[in-house]
Amino acid sequence: MSVRVAGIGTALPEKVVTNDDLAQHMDTSDAWIRERSGIGERRVGGSTVDMAVEAATAAIAAADLTPDDIGFLVLCTTTPEKTFPASSAMVAAGLGITCGAMDLNVVCAGFPYGYVAAYGMMTTPGGPDRVLVIGSDAMSTIVDWTDRGTAILFGDGAGAVVLEKSPQGELLGQDFGVNGDLESILYCDLGDTIVMEGRQVFKRAVRAVTGSVENALAQAGISAEDIDVVLPHQANIRIIEAVTQRLGIPMEKTFNVLEHTGNTSGASIPMAMAAADEAGVLEPGAVVLMSGFGAGMAWGSVVVTW
Ligand code: UT7
Repeated sequence: MSVRVAGIGTALPEKVVTNDDLAQHMDTSDAWIRERSGIGERRVGGSTVDMAVEAATAAIAAADLTPDDIGFLVLCTTTPEKTFPASSAMVAAGLGITCGAMDLNVVCAGFPYGYVAAYGMMTTPGGPDRVLVIGSDAMSTIVDWTDRGTAILFGDGAGAVVLEKSPQGELLGQDFGVNGDLESILYCDLGDTIVMEGRQVFKRAVRAVTGSVENALAQAGISAEDIDVVLPHQANIRIIEAVTQRLGIPMEKTFNVLEHTGNTSGASIPMAMAAADEAGVLEPGAVVLMSGFGAGMAWGSVVVTW
């Protein structure tokens, strides 16, 4: 028994903040931000729950299903709306369903964790037939809008997928890990804003993602050339370029949305997936790599056949 993606949906708040908008109140420029990160604009003003409900509704519709068909809900988020109840319960309420629901916080690396957790749950005896995996983050609520080192990078958004039991859609390999000793280079205290040593995070991210993909590929028994589609965490286009160059994967196989969204944390990989879907490359049998990294420093990679 395997698991396939039956539907994909995304949501972005309406308010656009361009690099030029940021340059009006901090010492930066559109040219610098584009060159150093690949980001041109981001959306702000979203709420984790509302964006998650919108993306999930779109994913369920794309799968030709109704919310009642969902057997479990995983919400990958760094920005829950309350200490409790879990935001996933509020998302379930927004969808009008009462299946099991849980939040999962692995910051920017969350989506591959959520994907494999859902896959595992579905393939255990009595597991649900369909699981909604959502990444939704309102990063603008935890950004220090006076800090040019972080304010230029992050944005709000959500992406959701309906996973469904199916004869197609094999999970070929996975790799997960954290290095908790690196807390000081990227963290956000409760009720506070993001603190980041960008250059350190950049270096560690390139190393961690490259190693993680290599591990997942080795486990899958395939090589980098066998990958058809790469859905990378959307943090910085230079990180994606550095990783793909090290792995020998052409950039054309990657799907990226960060120019218009910035880093939307847990939402970024499903949003990249939606872009790949729109481009028509997610054909049955395609080998698809998802890989994320973030505070923790956490990493996670999963290789599947579509
Ligand atoms: O999901 C995980 C989340 N985090 C990340 O993935 C972040 C990873 N890191 C990065 O993306 C990059 O490190 C940044 C985009 C944050 C910064 O790019 P960088 O190439 O690493 O720049 P830098 O920090 O090494 O700074 C280079 C120069 C410095 O000036 P000096 O010391 O060379 O004179 C900075 O002060 O650029 C300056 N600078 C800026 N200038 C204009 C730093 N931030 C800015 C800015 N605008 N926003």
